[in-house]
Amino acid sequence: MTDKKVTLTLQDDNSIELDVMQGTLGQDVVDVRALGSKGLFTFDPGFTSTASCESKITFIDGDEGILLHRGFPIDQLATHSNYLEVCYILLNGEAPTQAQFDEFCTTVTRHTMIHEQITRLFHGFRRDSHPMAVMCGVTGALAAFYHDSLDVNIERHREIAAFRLLSKMPTMAAMCYKYSIGQPFVYPRNDLSYAGNFLHMMFATPCEEYKVNPVLERAMDRILILHADHEQNASTSTVRTAGSSGANPFACIAAGIASLWGPAHGGANEATLRMLEEISTVEHIPEFVRRAKDKNDSFRLMGFGHRVYKNYDPRATVMRETCHEVLNELGMKDDLLEVAMELEHIALNDPYFIERKLYPNVDFYSGIILKAMGIPSSMFTVIFAMARTVGWIAHWKEMHDEGMKIARPRQLYTGYTEREFNSALNK
Ligand code: ACO
Repeated sequence: MTDKKVTLTLQDDNSIELDVMQGTLGQDVVDVRALGSKGLFTFDPGFTSTASCESKITFIDGDEGILLHRGFPIDQLATHSNYLEVCYILLNGEAPTQAQFDEFCTTVTRHTMIHEQITRLFHGFRRDSHPMAVMCGVTGALAAFYHDSLDVNIERHREIAAFRLLSKMPTMAAMCYKYSIGQPFVYPRNDLSYAGNFLHMMFATPCEEYKVNPVLERAMDRILILHADHEQNASTSTVRTAGSSGANPFACIAAGIASLWGPAHGGANEATLRMLEEISTVEHIPEFVRRAKDKNDSFRLMGFGHRVYKNYDPRATVMRETCHEVLNELGMKDDLLEVAMELEHIALNDPYFIERKLYPNVDFYSGIILKAMGIPSSMFTVIFAMARTVGWIAHWKEMHDEGMKIARPRQLYTGYTEREFNSALNK
C-alpha cells in the first residue's frame, strides 16, 4: 500500500476514496474492493486493466520486453540454467544450492511412472483423438488414482500433488504421442534429464536403443524453460479460478490445459506451423500479410502479437537462436524457417504491425524447432502444457499458501428486465 489515493467522483457529487497499491515493479494498482459495498462494480471484460491477484512469481514489462522469474531474467535462465532448476526457482522463490537441487531432481525423477491402470485409460480414446483432448482427460483422471494427496488444505498434500504433476506430465505427454501412432508406451528412464527422458519416451522403441542427441536435448530443455511461466495469462488464471473453489490440483491443471488449447493462447504454436505450411513459399507472404491487415478477413498472423508484450517477446529471441542451432545440428535447410524469417522481416517493417506493436511471440519459432525434431504439430500444445505445468502449480500453491477467496466476478446485466412468463406449449 502507498499513501497515494484515487478519488472517484460520482454524479451526485459524492466521492469515494480508493487506496493505491504498489508492487516492487510494474504499474500501481487501484484497490477497488470497497466499490461493491457502495453499489458499484468495475467493468473490464478480458481483464485488460485488472490485476486479478497479488503474486511474487513472475514479472513482465511488456513495453520493455522484460520477463523475470522470481527476479531472474529469462535470457539468463535460458542460457545458464536448466528446466528443473527453473522449476525449483518458480516453486520455491530462490535458486537452489547443489544439495537442494539434487534432492529436488531425485524427487521428480522418482515419480515419473504413472499408475499402470492409467495406461488403460488411453485405450478408451480413438487413436486419431487430438493429443490435447487426451492430455486434458488423463490429467483430470489422476485425481481418481492419487487420493492420498487431494486435501488442498494440507500443505504436504499440496507438495506431493505438485511433485506428482511435474514428474508425470512428460510420461503422459509422450504416451499421448505413442498412442496416436500405435506404438507401445515407453517407460521413463530416471538416469536421463527431464528433457532427455521426454525425448526418450517419445522416440525410443522396444526394437532399438534411442540415443538422446545433446543438442536436441538442450533445445527441448530451452523450450520448456521458455514456456515455464508467464504470470496471469488465460490458462494460469483458469487454474487459479478453478483452484479458488478448493478443487483438487489435478482438476485445476486439467482446466489449465483446456484453456491453453485455444489458438489465441497455447494453440498458437500449432496454428503458426499450419500457417507457415499454408504460406509455403516467400512469394506467397504478401498475400497473407494483406489478409492479416484486412478487417473483413478473420485471418491473423499466428505467432504475432501479445496482450502484454508491445515489444519483441524476449522468449522469441532465444527461440530463434535455438531454431538455428537445431537446424544446423540436423543439417536441415527448412523452407519454413526461410518463410518465417522473411515474414518476420516484412511484418516488422509494415506500418500496420508497427503501429499496433505486433511482434513475433514465443510460438513463432518453437513450431519449426519441434517439427525439425520430428514432433508432429498436434503435439506442440501438449509440450507447452507439460512445460507450463510448473507455472500453474506455482500459482496454485501461492494462492493456497497466501489464503484465497473464491473467484466470483460480477457482471453488467443487459438482458430482459422482469417479465411475465406465459408458456406457448400445449399442455
Ligand atoms: N495479426 C494481425 N493483426 C493482429 C494480430 C495478428 N496476429 N494480433 C492483433 N492484431 C490487431 C488486431 O486486429 C487489432 O487491430 P485494430 O486495433 O485495428 O482492431 C490490434 O492488433 C489489437 O489486437 P487485439 O486482438 O485487441 O489484441 P489482444 O491483446 O486482445 O490479443 C492476441 C492478443 C490474442 C495474442 C492477438 O495478438 C492474436 O490473436 N495473435 C495471434 C495468436 C497468437 O499468436 N497467440 C499466441 C499468444 S502468446 C501465448 O499465448 C504463448
